[in-house]
Amino acid sequence: MNAFDQILNRKESGSVKWDFMQQKLGLAGTDLLPMWVSDYDFKAPPAVLDALQQRVEHGIFGYAERDDAYYQATIDWYQNQHHTHIKREWITTVHGVLPGLAIALQMLTEKGDSIVMQSPGYGSFRKIIEFNDRVVVENPLTETDGEYQLDFDHLETCCANGAKAMIFCNPHNPTGRVWSESEMTRVAELCEQYQVWLLSDEIWGDLVVGDTQYYSALRLPRALNQRLIVATAASKTFGLSSLRISNFMIPNESLRVQFTRRLDAHGMDVFNSLSMSAATIAYQECSDWLEDLKDYLRANIAKLELFVQLSIPEVKFIAPQAGYLAWLDCRALNLTDSMLEQRFVSAGLIPSMGIAFGEEGSGFVRLNLGCPAGTLDEALERIQHALS
Ligand SMILES: Cc1ncc(COP(=O)(O)O)c(C=O)c1O
Repeated sequence: MNAFDQILNRKESGSVKWDFMQQKLGLAGTDLLPMWVSDYDFKAPPAVLDALQQRVEHGIFGYAERDDAYYQATIDWYQNQHHTHIKREWITTVHGVLPGLAIALQMLTEKGDSIVMQSPGYGSFRKIIEFNDRVVVENPLTETDGEYQLDFDHLETCCANGAKAMIFCNPHNPTGRVWSESEMTRVAELCEQYQVWLLSDEIWGDLVVGDTQYYSALRLPRALNQRLIVATAASKTFGLSSLRISNFMIPNESLRVQFTRRLDAHGMDVFNSLSMSAATIAYQECSDWLEDLKDYLRANIAKLELFVQLSIPEVKFIAPQAGYLAWLDCRALNLTDSMLEQRFVSAGLIPSMGIAFGEEGSGFVRLNLGCPAGTLDEALERIQHALS
């Protein structure tokens, strides 16, 4: 049996996805199948679990710093997986991608400033922009038959109108779109031309499941990387989200010094030894595990694709190029978002509602396919029930 087939009980483990539907979504019920929060229902790679066990057996958890192995594992991972050369000094480490993006926004922009993000776009970007008293400026993606494109003319208008920063999601959550080298370059050129800080969130970069190559903004030439901060993490890739560790790569030295100083100012200059052990070993030893995982995710995606074609042909589903999130276009069902949600909840399945990703997400749902095949089979029955 494939290890990913094992159905594990995550209830009462403090899981946001499984245990906090009532608190976070107001949804009560004993038999709800959650497919909202984007984390896996799989165990972390065995090598990571071994490393964590060894670290726990060591038994001392005094203040800790990143060692040579941590830096080298990160550098090698980007070189080997993504043909991306990272200099050791570019690497700064933060307790998660969202906290790092929030600190970067506070550092680079003022209250009331406009910050660009794409729509549909990851809802937590909106949250950190608005809760930091900045203003979201949406750059809607254009969509034709399920294919999403960046609207560069509109993006240029946003930049020309005084946007101070942009959070770019590469690859993109929720659509699973992997941006090409030319698209990434055009984004960076506009940011450079209009003096907009470019925060490229590349947390999904390791999870390309289609044919398109992920092009990290860290590969851009020097002329285009001086206003750039790239957020990366082993967390999404290897299922380590609650260990809270991410790397912010900053090629521009003075920007990096400023950012590191900000982290120091928040007392964020010491690190969690368990998180560092896990991230190091994941990058050093778990590339085969990742390949197996991606095959598994591809099979889940293909199963959903076939199911949608055969059982609910009104719904449109284009397989994601990266990640394990299915972005389902349910607009042809002519339901309001709350009716759509009610249909799913009544059938016992909890999706992320597309509207949470912005107006452009209205009529869509996002389903997390990072689960065992048996869980997906159960989900398909519930989807059938919800939408038939
Ligand atoms: C695009 C994107 N950025 C950031 C995060 C969260 O990162 P972290 O848990 O490191 O704060 C997610 C989680 O789903 C995400 O999809």
